[in-house]
Amino acid sequence: MNPIIKLENVYKTYRMGEVTVHALNDLSLDLDANELTVILGASGSGKTTLLNLIGGIDSPSKGTIVVDGKNIGKMNQRELTDYRRNNIGFIFQFYNLIPNLNARENLEFVFEYVLENNKGSKNARAQELLEKVGLGERGSHFPHQLSGGEQQRVAIARALAKDPRIILADEPTGELDYRTGLKILDILLSLSKENRAVIIVTHNRELARIATKVVRLRDGKVLDVKKNDTPIPVSELEW
Ligand SMILES: Nc1ncnc2c1ncn2[C@@H]1O[C@H](COP(=O)(O)OP(=O)(O)OP(=O)(O)O)[C@@H](O)[C@H]1O
Ligand SMILES: [Mg+2]
Repeated sequence: MNPIIKLENVYKTYRMGEVTVHALNDLSLDLDANELTVILGASGSGKTTLLNLIGGIDSPSKGTIVVDGKNIGKMNQRELTDYRRNNIGFIFQFYNLIPNLNARENLEFVFEYVLENNKGSKNARAQELLEKVGLGERGSHFPHQLSGGEQQRVAIARALAKDPRIILADEPTGELDYRTGLKILDILLSLSKENRAVIIVTHNRELARIATKVVRLRDGKVLDVKKNDTPIPVSELEW
């Protein structure tokens, strides 16, 4: 079976005056659905750049990125926007919720294109997703009335709004304490079992133990890829 995401000889090069930075430097990688991939690498190794390319936020300087059989490197801006909308759920370190919308509204505005302007069905779908991340009672709370972990769960619910096949999480537990972090990882792990590719980028090597695939990046290249046939349960993580 073909992998859902296939990167081949991908380069991302930034020119800053005289200086050229190879954020990704001949990177090749296959990623699958039903897999929790953890991508490890030092600061500056190209982790965020890689997520941005897979997520269609940015395009490669060279090389191909094929997702579900389509070369997204060749898409124009309009096609990329559709691709992102239909396939990708992003989760960031700092949650990125809209402060003056409550939890339910932070989800509802994402449904605009999906459910047109049917307020009732948007509301019901938002509620369903909040329940999925254990926040069914918190829909009316504004971000400042939620803990960090709760805000991150709202962000995950929002990422699920379009039922994406690919979930990209950039240091999703970076701001959270240990226990709260475990809760988030547990949700991401269960999402990976729903025929989605879940990709977590982190500095934290301990997280590799729950992954089914571990990719190490160095200087914009893949250092190695390891399959993990015996991932430990999230509850046994220590960091
Ligand atoms: N827009 C940009 N313009 C110029 N250089 C960039 C740009 N984005 C990233 N870079 C450079 O590319 C390299 C990879 O950056 P990237 O953000 O992917 O690293 P990272 O692994 O996510 O690091 P961190 O763990 O600190 O988030 C770095 O050297 C960075 O300075
Ligand atoms: Mg980064």
